[in-house]
Amino acid sequence: MLCSYKEKIAHWEWYDADIISSTNDEIKNIVQTNKHIILSAIEQTKGRGRRGRDWLSITGNLYFSYSLEVNSQNLSQIVCIIGLSLAKTITTYLTNKDVKIKWPNDVFVENKKISGILIENIKDNLWAIGVGVNVISSPKLDNSVYEATSLAENGVQIDREEFLKQYMSIFAKDYQLYQNKGFLEIKQEWMNFALNHQQEITIKTEKEIKTGIFFNLDDNGYLILKTNKGEERIVAGDLFI
Ligand code: BTN
Repeated sequence: MLCSYKEKIAHWEWYDADIISSTNDEIKNIVQTNKHIILSAIEQTKGRGRRGRDWLSITGNLYFSYSLEVNSQNLSQIVCIIGLSLAKTITTYLTNKDVKIKWPNDVFVENKKISGILIENIKDNLWAIGVGVNVISSPKLDNSVYEATSLAENGVQIDREEFLKQYMSIFAKDYQLYQNKGFLEIKQEWMNFALNHQQEITIKTEKEIKTGIFFNLDDNGYLILKTNKGEERIVAGDLFI
């Protein structure tokens, strides 16, 4: 892997590669020596999305992973922080657009998906946070109920590296806030971005499909769904309208 050192952002050392399989895979090798790494790539040959889907990785869009030490009991809260920081970063560029988070952490602009996050365990409490952002173009999504969009399609021309730096500094601040004050403020900010809040939604979990009203997030970052059986807490799943 051809990879060059860029700079330090907060306490992460940032490396950029030309072309690699997947930043989520390669970061696992680099963190053996330093636990605080960001690895970006101009192109990925085996970019992955959630649930085994491919993440098409053409030149010009942003693909990176960073490492984070998290107790697995706090992971569901962290998942929300990551999505919140990404939505806030996108808002700094798209000030007049409708930016929303589809639970738990997909960011949508004007109802089209602009980014995706894939969180995978490296070992013990160390996690790879993989982030893909459509900066210059949006791939056509096969078998998807949603369309995709990009920053460029919304009139913003920025460089993938500039976006990465902006995201990491926003994330570092949000994470600090969480460490100092807990999840409450993050949850409130997250709810201001919530897509389909108070609407009827369908959630597809590993085992079943549930329909109800998206009522709130709980203090773990789980989704509270109001169904005809009462309130149910959803730990993980895909949300549809
Ligand atoms: C999704 O919405 O399904 C998640 C997409 C995550 C894509 C990013 S790109 C950087 C990192 N490397 C990968 O192979 N996947 C993530």
